[in-house]
Amino acid sequence: MAVETEIYGPFTVTPVLEGFGAEVAGVPFDQVPLPEDMIKTLTTISDKYAVLIFRNTGLDDGRHVAFSKQLGELEFCPKFNGPDQPDRFSSPHLFDAGNTNLDGSLVKAGTRRWNYNKGNALWHTDSQFNQHRSKYSLLLAHAVPKEGGDTDFADTRRAYNDLPDEKKRELQDLIIESDLWHSRKLAAPEEFATQTVHELASKQPAYHKFVQQAPDGRDTLFIAAHTKRIVAPQAWDLEKSQKLIWELIDHCTKPQYVFSAPWYAPGDMIWWDNRASMHRATPFSDQMEVRDMRRTTVFDDGPYAHGEQVLTDMPAA
Ligand SMILES: [Fe+2]
Repeated sequence: MAVETEIYGPFTVTPVLEGFGAEVAGVPFDQVPLPEDMIKTLTTISDKYAVLIFRNTGLDDGRHVAFSKQLGELEFCPKFNGPDQPDRFSSPHLFDAGNTNLDGSLVKAGTRRWNYNKGNALWHTDSQFNQHRSKYSLLLAHAVPKEGGDTDFADTRRAYNDLPDEKKRELQDLIIESDLWHSRKLAAPEEFATQTVHELASKQPAYHKFVQQAPDGRDTLFIAAHTKRIVAPQAWDLEKSQKLIWELIDHCTKPQYVFSAPWYAPGDMIWWDNRASMHRATPFSDQMEVRDMRRTTVFDDGPYAHGEQVLTDMPAA
């Protein structure tokens, strides 16, 4: 079905799929901070399309962070190597999603960081493993490879809507445990068989409702490769939990719910809503080419922001 361009105030919106993903033109990123009515209009577009693509923004680190702050409070970049870990960027709000080291060299295959990045190729939502979850991610390209390295997106709202009623009833009251180290182990089992003291201290499991309402009012699944098991109303064992979780991830990522967003040039930015979509990184020649991507992450301030309190004496699986 052909999707038609829409006009929202000063912005031109070209949908990717019907109701999911849109390229937005006309944003004066050189004038950040933007007027409040523009931020409101962009948020309205985000609520509808969940993934907004901006080309050739001309943003630098400072304006990237300043624009993101207009959308809410920002996460601090996690310090997986301890509090003294040096930063590559001037702002503590910029998360390094690239493949270079502090000195500009490429992250070598087989290192812990290289293995860590493998987890990004699994379908996920950013910060699902945090008890105070995040609503938006804004990923800005600073260097892109000649080929590959696209980001795939999946519409969890439409996918949930298409589930049979019986399945929806089964999922309705479930509470999930999510754990960053679970997805790292799935992607790199040997490297992440154990975690360092700093890693464990930096990320504990988090608990959230499995079925939630997206910002546009539709029900959706809050699901990711980080989702480890069902813990309430009844505790499920790991195997049974994982069977259901991956059955649902497979469902949400069927071709009709998915599109792939290419990165054409430095300055391209994608703003996505982690409460309404999943995403994953796709391969590129990471031992040959630089892919410098920097991300701000905006804390959720909605009704599900802080998740659920779960009292569980389940042994760690
Ligand atoms: Fe991500």
